[in-house]
Amino acid sequence: MNNQGDHFKNVISHAKEYGFVFQSSEIYDGLSAVYDYGQNGAELKKNIREYWWKAMVQMNTNIVGLDASIFMHPTTWKASGHVDAFNDPLIDNKDSKKRYRADVLVEDYCAKIEQKIEKEVKKAKKRFGDAFDENEFLKTNQRVLAYQDKIETILKRMARSLENEDLADVKALIEELEIADPVSGSRNWTDVKQFNLMFGTKLGASAESAMDLYLRPETAQGIFVNFLNVQKTGRMKIPFGIAQTGKAFRNEIVARQFIFRMREFEQMEMQFFIKPGTQGEWYKHWKEKRLNWHLSLGMGEENYRFHDHEKLAHYADAAADIEFRFPFGFKELEGIHSRTDFDLSQHEKHAGKKLQFFDPEENKNYVPYVLETSIGLDRMFLAVFSNSLKNEELENNSTRTVLKLPAVLAPTKAAILPLVKKDGLPEIAKEILQELQWDFNVAYDEKDAVGRRYRRQDAIGTPFCITIDHQTIEDNTVTVRYRDSMKQERVAVKNLKTLIEDHVSMKNWLKNC
Ligand code: GAP
Repeated sequence: MNNQGDHFKNVISHAKEYGFVFQSSEIYDGLSAVYDYGQNGAELKKNIREYWWKAMVQMNTNIVGLDASIFMHPTTWKASGHVDAFNDPLIDNKDSKKRYRADVLVEDYCAKIEQKIEKEVKKAKKRFGDAFDENEFLKTNQRVLAYQDKIETILKRMARSLENEDLADVKALIEELEIADPVSGSRNWTDVKQFNLMFGTKLGASAESAMDLYLRPETAQGIFVNFLNVQKTGRMKIPFGIAQTGKAFRNEIVARQFIFRMREFEQMEMQFFIKPGTQGEWYKHWKEKRLNWHLSLGMGEENYRFHDHEKLAHYADAAADIEFRFPFGFKELEGIHSRTDFDLSQHEKHAGKKLQFFDPEENKNYVPYVLETSIGLDRMFLAVFSNSLKNEELENNSTRTVLKLPAVLAPTKAAILPLVKKDGLPEIAKEILQELQWDFNVAYDEKDAVGRRYRRQDAIGTPFCITIDHQTIEDNTVTVRYRDSMKQERVAVKNLKTLIEDHVSMKNWLKNC
């Protein structure tokens, strides 16, 4: 197993061992690609959601929130194109009987070429030392250029074939590239077929009168069908946005890579309604804004990149992904889509109702265009969690496992630790706990030696450990130990709140956006 694979295994086992993510219905052997969030996971997820909501809704007077239902009138999905076009191309291996997404097989093939490029970069870095210019190398090295060219040719051809519904050519591509089943190594493939990803269910008491429904595959449609409700009641003027977070469901064929691709997941989406013709500038604006939101968390600029789509979804005239370096390589984390007036026009047609805005400057009605930002909350969780998990060698030759979460997202902000369970220290500790509890999620731990308690907090990413000792009784000071540097300092109890606040407040982090 390579280092990346090892790290990913550690991520999954750490998430389980420390109460972040459990397999759903584990006592019944689990349900494939469905997960539950434990005591720490629920807090981390809530904090990510809040960080997004604050940046998108609270800090933009022209963006408002919405909480639409998961169940929607079935015509919604006919209008949106999901009944006819929300398909994945699937292919079966005749020997292993395993089913794959044909496009993912090809993308994985390209990811392997990408790894070869990374290897070349590493080798060159070693060779040239400080004088190495990575950008120049990527632009000029013949071998790298050939690899890049190969990736581009393959992806372009696949995009074209999928666009033209030429599934025979997708199969031909897989055969030409000699892509083998990752499990069995067999190249004995069936034809490529389309598979609709929506889950169906029924609404109603009797079989005759029941209505066929779908579980929503994206939260966006709840926003579109409420466009006029919000615009009129909120007296919103274009440009304005509607944001919401909530569950979405997809019957994914390739449900793997832990919480990266789930069958039930949560999205954080924002639809920004604009004047037709201005989509180019808003597309640029939101690409930049969203990347800055990610960068504000300090997880390394080098771990992000844009990927402009070759194959556009049925509703888009431009689209890009913000990709993140997950433990298994660069993959989509968020999508920025220029959706034109596709959705609102479709709903107008199917509902027979106008979904237009009267623009007083233009003195006319029009169907607004839409710029969408869409991020998977679970995927963001995986990005943050996997990037933060570190195994560190310490000076005394020991090691520690530490979850260096951005402090603003940490489930627990501080742990209150009385040095010993006597001499009145637990009582003082509990007083401090009760005071800080009003403002932060704080933990109390009096079991085991203090060093072991530090390690436990490191493992769940708590930025501060606050130790109450005998000196506290005399001068009302405590020892504050920082998670990342492990440095300790003496701090007056009355200054604790401000100290923690400075490090964890959303305001201080979001100011970097
Ligand atoms: N409304 C547009 C839309 O849904 P998408 O690219 O299909 O676009 C948006 O999904 C985001 O939702 C993705 O960038 C990803 O973060 C997340 N996402 C999509 N499918 C997912 C799945 N099966 N499991 C977890 N997250 C998923």
